[in-house]
Amino acid sequence: MARILITSALPYINGIKHLGNLVGSMLPSDVYARFQRQRGAEVLFICATDEHGTPAELAARAAGQNVRDYCREQYEIQKSAGDAFGLSWDHFGRSSNAPNHRLTQHFAHVLEQNGLIEERADKQVYSVDDQRFLPDRYVEGTCPHCDYEKARGDQCDNCGRLLDPTDLKDPYSSISGSHNVELRETKHLYLLQSNMQDRIAGWLETKTEFPALTVSIARKWLKEGLRDRAITRDLKWGVPVAYQGEARPGFENKVFYVWFDAPIEYIGATEEWAIANNDNWERWWRTDKGADDVKYVQVMGKDNVAFHTVSFPATILGSEEPWKTVDALKSLNWLTWYGGKFSTSENRGIFMDQALELLPPDYWRWALMANAPESDDASFTLEHFASVVNKDLADVLGNFVNRVTRFCNARFGQAVPDAGEYGAAEKALIDELDKRLAVYANHLEEMEYRKAFAELRAIWVAGNEYLQIAAPWTVIKENPEKAAAAVRCGLNLILLFAVLSRPVIPFTSDKMFAVFGVDPKWGTRWPESAGAALTTLKGGEPFTLPDVLFAKIEDEQVEAWRKQFGAE
Ligand code: 2FM
Ligand code: ZN
Repeated sequence: MARILITSALPYINGIKHLGNLVGSMLPSDVYARFQRQRGAEVLFICATDEHGTPAELAARAAGQNVRDYCREQYEIQKSAGDAFGLSWDHFGRSSNAPNHRLTQHFAHVLEQNGLIEERADKQVYSVDDQRFLPDRYVEGTCPHCDYEKARGDQCDNCGRLLDPTDLKDPYSSISGSHNVELRETKHLYLLQSNMQDRIAGWLETKTEFPALTVSIARKWLKEGLRDRAITRDLKWGVPVAYQGEARPGFENKVFYVWFDAPIEYIGATEEWAIANNDNWERWWRTDKGADDVKYVQVMGKDNVAFHTVSFPATILGSEEPWKTVDALKSLNWLTWYGGKFSTSENRGIFMDQALELLPPDYWRWALMANAPESDDASFTLEHFASVVNKDLADVLGNFVNRVTRFCNARFGQAVPDAGEYGAAEKALIDELDKRLAVYANHLEEMEYRKAFAELRAIWVAGNEYLQIAAPWTVIKENPEKAAAAVRCGLNLILLFAVLSRPVIPFTSDKMFAVFGVDPKWGTRWPESAGAALTTLKGGEPFTLPDVLFAKIEDEQVEAWRKQFGAE
């Protein structure tokens, strides 16, 4: 049996995620995990909240909470939202949990033993009034590149450039607003990535399954030359710079940098899963403990690619320990809100909790995945969303299920009709579906979601077209047996669609299974062939009439939502 480890980029703890975050990693990884489970693979699908760093501390401060309580609450909120969206994590962990602390300290320790970490004295922005160093976002000031006056220490939101706090002109503390800041010397640990350039480049060459977007981002970083990177920060909340309970002298008030510990939490969360399930995490991560036959798949937005193709591999390879590394890396572009940024503070865009107040999860899951930002950034608009839902889900899939079940009920009653044999129309349908099934599965295997769901839609359309050709409502007059066979085929198509659509619209798939009283637990295996699938339901099996699967979205709703969510 294939064994597949799937990790989604870890959502930052500060605040519920928007539709762009959802389609950027959590949803595509879920679809892949569900697909592979249906194919019979042993899947371990891992995600977690990314809880450290200045964004978490600043958000807690803004919420008037201590950071530990803030993270605990936000974790629950994000977990509930993910569950409600049907994200089928085997474990949703927390980067602040004990396994990640232990592993992060372990990696730092072995990297240092291998000569890849060194202590360096560094000049840092210090706030005299706050009596502390100001890392990353704790300092704001004027961007040296574009003169934007509210640039943050780690990045300028105006020109998008990455910054170092010491680059800022006229810096001030974002805690107190004080301009009474100066550069003071302090020590930090540096990961010597420059020593790893050839090693990482060579490793990347072996990753033949990486798609073009991923490879081009990684190569760009390598071409610029890898730079040594400070992996500690002057913060309280985070993984302490310690080893086996002993703080490193001079680092008592420092923690590891969030981007050092976050990817390690992929392993940490697996250990959390193992503890909770009395299982063994090493068989997923250590090639000396059975992980060499695991296929490891990572899914993330494009801004995360460098961290996963360069920085995290530097940690893993530099340890010289037999860790599993990523085999397939799917990266996505941005989903924009009407061409601009999603923003909580400016009330622009829809966030996960709000989305589910408007419509059930499958409406969003389908619209987002069928239009995933793969080859380029994609703009989310409510108008497009409504049109996709109405056309694909209501008119094509929903209508098919409705027509077949209602016609059968009216003319044959609430059981699969027994009479008649499949003829030419059914054979033609089976031929077409066999071709399409192979194409669809292949796109899902490749994580080419737009192509995959265009194909799934074509499969639904083929069902509708078949029904038009078979026309049981007309044929029944002269040839009731032929009509009965067509209806039996139609009912079997509903069950087949329930299986094929399940990775992307699992809640609807459940409803379609429920029509036949089939327990999805055993009925969801990926079909071997269309011919076999369309003879699953035999004559005489009862069914119940489903409610309308998808309500159409009306223009008035779109108008109201436009106002509510700042659509311009
Ligand atoms: O960009 C982000 O949302 C990060 N929180 C992703 C971290 S991925 C992993 F490395 F932890
Ligand atoms: Zn700038």
